[in-house]
Amino acid sequence: MAQDNIQSTLHEERQFPPSADFVRSANLAATTLEHLYTDAAQDNQEFWAKQARNEIDWQTDFTTTLDSSNAPFYSWFVGGKLNVSYNCIDRQLAENADKTAIIFEGEPGDVEHISYRELHRRVCVFANALKAQGITKGDRVIIYMPMIAEAVIAMQACARIGAIHSVVFGGFSASSLKDRIEDTQAKLVITADGGNRGGKIIELKKTTDNALEKGCDSVDTVIVFERTGHAISMQADRDIWWSDAEQDQSTECEPEWVEASHPLFLLYTSGSTGKPKGIQHSTGGYLLNAITTMRWVFDIQATDTFWCTADVGWITGHTYVAYGPLATGSTIVIYEGVPTVPDAGRFWDICQRLGVTIFYTAPTAIRALMKIGDELPNQYDLSKLRLLGTVGEPINPEAWMWYHNVIGKQKCPIVDTWWQTETGAHMIAPIPGAMATKPGSCTRALPGIDAAIVNQEGEEITQANEGGYLVIRQPWPSMIQTVWGDDQRYKDTYWPYFDGKYYLAGDSARRDEDGYFWIMGRIDDVLNVSGHRLGTMEIESALVAHPSVAEAAVVGKPHDIKGESIFSYVVLKGDRPEGGIDDELTQELRAWVGEQIGAIAKPDEIRYADNLPKTRSGKIMRRLLRTIAKGDEITQDTSTLENESIIPQLQGKA
Ligand code: WTA
Repeated sequence: MAQDNIQSTLHEERQFPPSADFVRSANLAATTLEHLYTDAAQDNQEFWAKQARNEIDWQTDFTTTLDSSNAPFYSWFVGGKLNVSYNCIDRQLAENADKTAIIFEGEPGDVEHISYRELHRRVCVFANALKAQGITKGDRVIIYMPMIAEAVIAMQACARIGAIHSVVFGGFSASSLKDRIEDTQAKLVITADGGNRGGKIIELKKTTDNALEKGCDSVDTVIVFERTGHAISMQADRDIWWSDAEQDQSTECEPEWVEASHPLFLLYTSGSTGKPKGIQHSTGGYLLNAITTMRWVFDIQATDTFWCTADVGWITGHTYVAYGPLATGSTIVIYEGVPTVPDAGRFWDICQRLGVTIFYTAPTAIRALMKIGDELPNQYDLSKLRLLGTVGEPINPEAWMWYHNVIGKQKCPIVDTWWQTETGAHMIAPIPGAMATKPGSCTRALPGIDAAIVNQEGEEITQANEGGYLVIRQPWPSMIQTVWGDDQRYKDTYWPYFDGKYYLAGDSARRDEDGYFWIMGRIDDVLNVSGHRLGTMEIESALVAHPSVAEAAVVGKPHDIKGESIFSYVVLKGDRPEGGIDDELTQELRAWVGEQIGAIAKPDEIRYADNLPKTRSGKIMRRLLRTIAKGDEITQDTSTLENESIIPQLQGKA
């Protein structure tokens, strides 16, 4: 655990209560919310049991709400059987079959509306296609797709037959894809010929071919969806077009009823070691919190058009694109491309044209669009918007105010939602019709979620505004089940202190006088670049794998738009380049990291030094490196450094 004192520097006094209009039609009024808090405080398990029976259609009711006998491996809703795809789609067929489930918009401008009836048909046909390829309950399937409706159809089809999907973000490299295939031992990969992003084609099939060339013996089949229609190569005994796989498949597919703890999916995320971990999520508990947060935090109602801009490659795209909104029978928007094609008004154009009422995006996107100015958003009619959300990183008050004024026209509450891949769903977030928001605060823990800030001894910090470790003190339904294939790592990473009783989120936070939470940042070596989690060790391992690199250290540097940028210090095997500059090598190393992990992990800056600064025990002095990256004055003690002359090198002054 970091020993540095956790200090807060942000002071924000403004408060924004919801408008009377919003309150009037909100799902949760302040009094109902108080009841939920009281119920949860009285009997947490009873509270969740009641929610689970209200919100989920169980094929077999559960007998035990929570089994803690093998803590921290908690099991919710034991004995219960259900199917997520059934809960998302089939339950709409009786009354809402013609309602639009998905409005898909491609980057080139093609738009498609898919009703719940049609979604049911497509998911069933594709689920049968998977079965025909030999996929059964418990098999792992990799999904490496563009952000198109078929990505969600593929996920839903896996859920329907009890196969465990692992979606790999389309921006990850062949090498990252291969690692995930090998760790999951997937039998089948679903991909596309390509996807449209930024006016270019993302070569998904080609990257898949490269990944499979390097091993991945578990894979028998690759299903390829035709999206771009450009030429790709197909391997006869392995690859099959999506449309061919669907030939003659029935439009009905009986859902596979699985136990509540059956893994719905694995999603890889970065931690503080070089190897990403496969976060394993359950079926029943995960679905429950996906639904409750849709109702409570997003105030979802039958007439809403809900747009979460996240890619399905991230947890946000799982919970708030593929599962939560469909499980509440909502209409969602899926957009394939980037926000700047054909110009930076694309998001607002989509909101206007498709009538988006709830819009959920990352602070990095808000900052980037804010920088371009008010003129573009002001050209569009955004009057249908009624609620805005943010996720992934702290939002600075300036960006919050811009979002509030220019996009929300001062009438839309903003829900700043704190959660993680591991938590499965929102944990700390406003209930928009029931409380005032403050720019930069994710406000209060949701009913049933026991979040607290503690010191190193695990004692709750009650002093307002004093920083500490953010922990969750009681298990919750959508919690991580384990790290795929590595129970020990699950225990060591999330339950290392406090007698293994509290879930350690890895963030530091404080609470203000009103008890509102303010997230201050990570306590481990994890960066948050444009809302994406990247382990510094992962990037370091990639750098060190280059033949010229002896050692590398990576730290985050504050960045206007991305939140953090990636700053690396590199020690070469040969001599340090003259003056510490070698543009050619720098470009080569950036491209190298791009190949090893993906473009999102490319270092923004690289500085060469003869050595890295280390403590006597050999630990890299990361705090010092962060100070230097920022260009701040060094206040740390550097007298223990063996070679103090490296300081000017690290500073880029020698
Ligand atoms: C950060 C994304 C401040 C935090 C859903 C967390 C946030 C990590 C917020 C998880 C927020 C997420 N305010 N920080 N509203 N939401 N974070 O797994 O550091 O990609 O631990 O999940 O993002 O990132 P992940």
